[in-house]
Amino acid sequence: MASLSVDCGGLALRNPILSASGTFGHGLEMQHFAAPHSLGALVSKTVTLKPRPGNPHPRIAETEAGLLNSIGLENRGIEAYLRDVLPAMASADCAVVTNIGGEKVEDFAELARILHERSEVDALEVNLSCPNVQGGKLPFSTDPRVAQAVIRGVRAATNKPVFAKLSPNVTDIGDIARACEAAGADALTAVNTLLGMSVDWRTGAPGINTVMGGYSGVGIKPVALRCAWQCARAVKIPIIGCGGIGKASDVLEYLVVGCSAVQVGTSCFSDPSNIAGLAAEVASLLDARGIADVRALIGSIRAFAPSPACATAVGKA
Ligand code: SIN
Repeated sequence: MASLSVDCGGLALRNPILSASGTFGHGLEMQHFAAPHSLGALVSKTVTLKPRPGNPHPRIAETEAGLLNSIGLENRGIEAYLRDVLPAMASADCAVVTNIGGEKVEDFAELARILHERSEVDALEVNLSCPNVQGGKLPFSTDPRVAQAVIRGVRAATNKPVFAKLSPNVTDIGDIARACEAAGADALTAVNTLLGMSVDWRTGAPGINTVMGGYSGVGIKPVALRCAWQCARAVKIPIIGCGGIGKASDVLEYLVVGCSAVQVGTSCFSDPSNIAGLAAEVASLLDARGIADVRALIGSIRAFAPSPACATAVGKA
């Protein structure tokens, strides 16, 4: 059976499948659907310094091809996370990644200092990219200088692996990727949700209370894949692909464009057990093609070359 283990910025993973923040509780809530040992890592919902009630309802709306959300980083704050969540994570049979968020640049470093002390946490994912908070201000990852300042602060606070989660809602994601790498990020998660909206033409009512929200799911895969590819070309640190992943072939596509691992998110809402089978399905696809190690696929994308039949047809036209 093909080897699936990968390294993600210093974090050794038994396989390249991670849960995406905000779609799987803090991780163990879902263990009866997806056993932790079937995953490379569990990524928590974003944790902030203070509790946050989140945005007014409705804050989830289905679309033809995915989901809109405007949760607003609802969570019970770091104290409750340390007290009620982390002790149980010590027994999770996979790596544990805590996703952190803040209202100001300094909040992230403060959270990193606190979590650095906790042995249950294997890595930090820095949420630079939630589109649903900050009073209409743009997320931290839309400005390379701000993204760099956040990651620099987190880097100074911990030597645990630091993943920077980037937004696709930017002109050149490569610029942001380079800024985070220069500030000391060990890996990049590409990407968070696209900014979107929906409306009912009959009532004129938007699908969610904040009108705009984060769009995720199968519809964003081509955009997210493009972002992951651009990041992989821009930096040397590993990329964790995220966006529209629900099948083993999606996982492999992200690896081919240069990702070392992936996160599975919106598909967990319709079937939280699906993620548990992905690693075995990836291994079968690799076995069927005689690929002994999943790492052989990472970054194996090649230039487009027309097939001989296509080239002949074009030549005749
Ligand atoms: C939210 O809580 O609003 C979503 C989290 C995110 O997009 O980072």
